Amino acid sequence: MSLSLKPLADALGTEATGVDLSASVSEEIVEALKEALRDNLLLVVRDQHLSAAQYLAAVRLFGETMEQHLSDLLMEEHPEIAVLDSRNSPVGNDGRGIPLGSKDWHTDHTNHANPPKMTAMYALSLPRAGGDTGFANMHLAYEALPDEDKAHFDGLKTVNRIENNPYVSDAHKKRFGAAQIHPLIRTHPETGRKAIYIHPGKTERIEGMGEDESDAFVDRLMARAIQPENSYRHQWQLGDLVIWDNRSISHIAYRDYDHKERRIMHRVILAGDTPV
Ligand code: SIN
Repeated sequence: MSLSLKPLADALGTEATGVDLSASVSEEIVEALKEALRDNLLLVVRDQHLSAAQYLAAVRLFGETMEQHLSDLLMEEHPEIAVLDSRNSPVGNDGRGIPLGSKDWHTDHTNHANPPKMTAMYALSLPRAGGDTGFANMHLAYEALPDEDKAHFDGLKTVNRIENNPYVSDAHKKRFGAAQIHPLIRTHPETGRKAIYIHPGKTERIEGMGEDESDAFVDRLMARAIQPENSYRHQWQLGDLVIWDNRSISHIAYRDYDHKERRIMHRVILAGDTPV
């Protein structure tokens, strides 16, 4: 078995095959995977067969795991892992599930002072069709803005708060409830590239704007930012381990399937630094 790396889309993403992360892997292979992730912002490692402990060990090749505020979804034996099971999703008025991460394009956990640098998901069960995740390259979204918008947005800050989700306990809502201020335009600490950095659902408002003005601003910004040419839609295969860079990418879980069919993902986040 030998590692093979292949681009997934023009905008972002590398597919890795020929690597088994349940066993120890050489330093050379780890470096090749890290480089692919750094250059292409998202890595799909196909065809993995991992216990929870092996999954955590694999993800820790890329950084330190971080506590998630998703209290009711955390695995008892391995609380670093949140189990996203579509059958437990809240149901909307249309009778369809509203899985975690499906409300808007976002980066993760911006209600933390140091939000996660990366998120990983491992696919254990999939619906017959759909259950895709969308990813957008927010460096390209920033770079496509006219210069006057870049100059304006560069100075803006978002005020972030935890959302009122049913799977977060009151204790966690309180513990992770303090407002966190982050720059709207973030510079990647390793590559120096700027990106639009926002979780619309957690953005209480843009600093200095009223609520309505802020909501309208964020809606307009996201409508401009997410474009086919800067995006990639991942169609999951069982055994996919996908890891992406939250400092560079926005993502969304599509509601394109029947949530009563089992879509089960193990989700882990990796510690990041203070956005600047
Ligand atoms: C998330 O937003 O973290 C979950 C995405 C997904 O389940 O596809």
